[in-house]
Amino acid sequence: MGPYSEVELGRLRVERSGSLSGGGTTHGVFRCRAPDGEALLFKEYRPGTRGEVDPSVLRAHVRWRQQLSPADRRRLDALAAWPTAVVREGRTVAGVLMNEAPREFFEDKEPGAVRDLTALARDPDYSARYHAPHFPAPRKLAALGHLLQSLAFLHGLDVVVGDLQPRNVLTTGTTGVPRVYFLDCDAYLVEGKNPFRVVREPEPWRVPGAKTFTERTDLYKAALLVARCLAENLALHDLRPRMFADVLPSVDVDVLRALTAPDRPGRPAMRAAELRPMAQAWQALVREDGAMYVRNDTYAMARWPVPTGPGTARPSRGTPPHHTRTGEPARSTVRRPDTAATPRKGWLRRFLDFFRGSPANRR
Ligand SMILES: Nc1ncnc2c1ncn2[C@@H]1O[C@H](COP(=O)(O)OP(=O)(O)OP(=O)(O)O)[C@@H](O)[C@H]1O
Ligand SMILES: [Mg+2]
Repeated sequence: MGPYSEVELGRLRVERSGSLSGGGTTHGVFRCRAPDGEALLFKEYRPGTRGEVDPSVLRAHVRWRQQLSPADRRRLDALAAWPTAVVREGRTVAGVLMNEAPREFFEDKEPGAVRDLTALARDPDYSARYHAPHFPAPRKLAALGHLLQSLAFLHGLDVVVGDLQPRNVLTTGTTGVPRVYFLDCDAYLVEGKNPFRVVREPEPWRVPGAKTFTERTDLYKAALLVARCLAENLALHDLRPRMFADVLPSVDVDVLRALTAPDRPGRPAMRAAELRPMAQAWQALVREDGAMYVRNDTYAMARWPVPTGPGTARPSRGTPPHHTRTGEPARSTVRRPDTAATPRKGWLRRFLDFFRGSPANRR
């Protein structure tokens, strides 16, 4: 992107033949050439929504990215389609320019379609019926670990996502290191300010008791997203304590349950940065060579898939999942010591113990 932060619509060469947004009702997203020849996307606000935009806040959004340190700007650009310029049509704001999501965030078989986080919630039947890849739990968790890390980065810059939901975040496919990429950044809040006067948020992702978008609503939605992707059910509401026991240690499930507590006072005042150790552990479940692992209350790290079935002990506390010929646990399997002195009895456990102990949180 050139040094400009505003451009007149007439100076863009817009390819109107195909909208990447699939004909969205409020916005269209088109490939275009900027005046300097750069290939970008033009997100066009339709006439009905132009009045909802506060032009000065939107301009501040664009300038905010430009004044970031080069390292922060590079990191932001690698994980989000942040608006790079405001597009004017006479005196009105017609939309924004942004980068197109990198290739790995598009579906392999449909090059025109992006792969959003609903892909992580596909169940095996759906995947088989529509020939769409099914994502194993370690891949879901590694991608969502990157999402949590990215939220910590954004919150650290005083940015709140707001309308965090699966359609607004893309993910990589079934190869390579899982990552996510954020869309719809023109509606993010920077230093508490939203360029849109009218707030849009799908009903299934509303946070009970919340009136505005905050870091805490982002965390509620992120935790719900993790649970819904693992459950392969985008309508899931109640997280039960033993849920996901095969693929998560119970302390991680406790965190997800606390963050998504139905009543506002029941949720911990946690920050995304505090979830970094958990997010890192999730990211480590998929290695660069594609090898996958699982962590739960029994195993600190075991190769995925853990063999089950006839003649193989189903993993349970104290039972290694598979053995070498010598009867030793396979080297890829590290059994968690049964004492309390595991690395995971650390910040998170202490935090949750404290949190559960406070009278306001006894339910
Ligand atoms: N940077 C991008 N790269 C690739 N595709 C994009 C990009 N930005 C948007 N899209 C496509 O356009 C769709 C809509 O974009 P976005 O989420 O920014 O708008 P929206 O505010 O949700 O619009 P609408 O209300 O019309 O759904 C996305 O779901 C995606 O398919
Ligand atoms: Mg959207």
